[in-house]
Amino acid sequence: PAGFVADRLARPLQDLRISVTDRCNFRCVYCMPSEVFDKDYAFLPHSSLLSFEEITRIAGIFVAHGVSKIRLTGGEPLLRKNIERLIEMLNSLRTPDGKELDLTLTTNGSLLTRKAQALKDAGLKRVTVSLDSLDDTTFKRMNDVDFPVAEVLNGIDVAHQVGLGPIKINMVVKGGMNDQEILPMARHFKDSPFILRFIEYMDVGTSNGWKMDEVIPSAEVVQRIHREMPLEPIEPNYTGETAQRWRYVEGKGEIGVISSVTQAFCSECTRARLSTEGKLYTCLFATGGHDLRALLRGGKSDQEIATAVAHIWRARADRYSEIRTANTVDARKQENKVEMSYIGG
Ligand code: GTP
Ligand code: 5AD
Ligand code: SF4
Ligand code: SF4
Repeated sequence: PAGFVADRLARPLQDLRISVTDRCNFRCVYCMPSEVFDKDYAFLPHSSLLSFEEITRIAGIFVAHGVSKIRLTGGEPLLRKNIERLIEMLNSLRTPDGKELDLTLTTNGSLLTRKAQALKDAGLKRVTVSLDSLDDTTFKRMNDVDFPVAEVLNGIDVAHQVGLGPIKINMVVKGGMNDQEILPMARHFKDSPFILRFIEYMDVGTSNGWKMDEVIPSAEVVQRIHREMPLEPIEPNYTGETAQRWRYVEGKGEIGVISSVTQAFCSECTRARLSTEGKLYTCLFATGGHDLRALLRGGKSDQEIATAVAHIWRARADRYSEIRTANTVDARKQENKVEMSYIGG
C-alpha cells in the first residue's frame, strides 16, 4: 500500500523531521527556558527513545510514501550518542526511483567543530546552524548557558570546509532581545557562502511565554536591511519552502525570512514530524501525536505500519498558523501543545 499520499488539503507527504533527542546543552529563552527545563525536568528515559534500527525502519516507510527529504532535529541532535551511525543507516535509503535522500540536520553548532568531519563521512549532505546574535552578551542571554559566539562561528567554518554546504544560518528574532542584531548579522553574512535566515518568534509549546508584541514581522526585517543594503525578491527553490528569499542588489548573497506568524505557509506544508519517542505529529502545533513506536514494538509488519501512516496523513487538516488568533493561542496553551525540543523544529 505504500506510495504517494496526500492529505485533506491536497498536500503531499514529502519531508520527515526526526527528533533524535529531547535534550539540549542550550537553554534558549524561546525554546527551553531554564525556569522550566531545570534540573528537575523529566527528560525521556533512554528506553523510550526509538533505536537507530527503529528510526531507520520508520524512515524507510516514509520514503516509500514519497518522502525525499529527512532532517534530524532535537533538542540538539549532535548530543545523541553515535549519531554518525544513524546518518549512515539513513543515507543508505533510496527513493522509489532510486535517488539518494536530501539528508540534513539542524544544530546549535556547539559540537560542529568536533563532529563535522564524521558527519560528512557518514553521508550527511548539509547542515543548518542556529545563531541568534554576533554579540556575546546578547547571545549568552539567549542561550542562557554562557556559550560564546566564536565557538559557533568556528563550527560553521569547519562544517563549510569539510563540504557540509550550502549551510544556512537560522536566527530567531525576538523583539527587545536580539532585534538590534538584525543588521550586524546581515552585514556579517553578506558576501559569505552562508545563507542567513530570519525566523519569526513563534508560540510553540507552552513554556516560552510567547507574546505577539515580541514578534518582529519579517516585512520589517526586510525593510531594515533594505534601507542599508538594497534587496530584491527571488523565486523559491521549491514549492512549500519555509523561507521567502531575497537577494542583495549589490554584491553577492541572499537572505531568507521565515514568516510563520505574519504570513503562514500551511497551505503548502508537506512536513511530518517524528518525536524522540516515536510519535507522529502532523503539525508543529499539534496537541497529540500518533504512536508509531507501539506499532513497531507490537510486531506489526512494514505494510501494516505503512497503511497506518497513510491513514493518518490522509486525515490531516492542520493549518494552525493560518488560523492563529489571540483566542487559538490561549486555547492551545490549555490543551498542552508539545514543546519544540520534543517534537523537533
Ligand atoms: P530547508 O530545507 O533548508 O529549506 O530547511 P527548512 O527551512 O525546511 O528547515 P529548518 O529546520 O531550517 O526550518 C527553519 C525554521 O522554520 C524552523 O526552525 C521553524 O522555526 C520554522 N519551521 C520549519 N518548518 C515549519 C513548519 O512546518 N511550520 C512552522 N510554523 N514553522 C516551521
Ligand atoms: N520560534 C521560532 N523558532 C524557534 N526555534 C526554536 N524555538 C522557536 C520559536 N519559539 C528554532 C531554532 C532553530 C530550530 C531548531 O527551531 O532557532 O533554528
Ligand atoms: Fe536547544 Fe535549539 Fe532549542 Fe536552543 S533552539 S534550546 S539550541 S533545541
Ligand atoms: Fe505545517 Fe502546522 Fe506549520 Fe502550518 S503550522 S506550516 S500546518 S507545521
